[in-house]
Amino acid sequence: MKERLGRKFEEEVQFFKGWQKDKKRVGALMPTSVHAARRMASVINPASGMPVLELGAGTGVITKAILERGIKPHQLISVEYSKDFYHRLTRGFPGVDFRLGDAFALGEVLAERSGEQFDCVISAVPMLSFPMEQRIALLEDLLARIPAGRPVIQITYGPLSPVIKMPDRYVVSHYDFVVRNIPPAQLWTYRRAV
Ligand SMILES: C[S@@+](CC[C@H](N)C(=O)[O-])C[C@H]1O[C@@H](n2cnc3c(N)ncnc32)[C@H](O)[C@@H]1O
Repeated sequence: MKERLGRKFEEEVQFFKGWQKDKKRVGALMPTSVHAARRMASVINPASGMPVLELGAGTGVITKAILERGIKPHQLISVEYSKDFYHRLTRGFPGVDFRLGDAFALGEVLAERSGEQFDCVISAVPMLSFPMEQRIALLEDLLARIPAGRPVIQITYGPLSPVIKMPDRYVVSHYDFVVRNIPPAQLWTYRRAV
């Protein structure tokens, strides 16, 4: 218990340091809570046998929840922009395919895995820090990497979907409001119509 609390405190300090370095990129004051991370991972279908794509892994709270859902480390590809977080993640989660890079340039980051389909995408990229055209372009890139009907799930702290609705292009659904997160978090899903 003492050790777990110590580790959690250390994660929070690391996160806060990252936030001080680059507030817009980190996009939150505290790491995602275990409750929010588990809710996000709940959209995964482990029986699909397909790999899962994670974006903005940070301290690895969501990474851990994804693995706990039954995804093998080599079945998880996780993109993180910050070098500090990336080095820590590679040490903490052996076997996961971490990529140091920009989620908005997945063509480059996943170059040799291009054309690969994922079961779903779990994203904690701070969408609100980027212009709307970039958010839409990222979402459409992600939707092309998963089967129609499967979700991209996104965590955000505003009251609205961080990507505007475009019913002719994708379906937006509110998934959950997680009070046990600082600040309380909204979860949204996006799908291509089947
Ligand atoms: C709100 S934090 C959440 C991190 C994680 N859920 C946690 O609790 O530790 C957002 C994360 O997205 C990363 N990030 C920001 N922009 C990114 C980008 N363009 N591509 C990949 N990761 C990005 C940040 O470095 C940070 O780790």
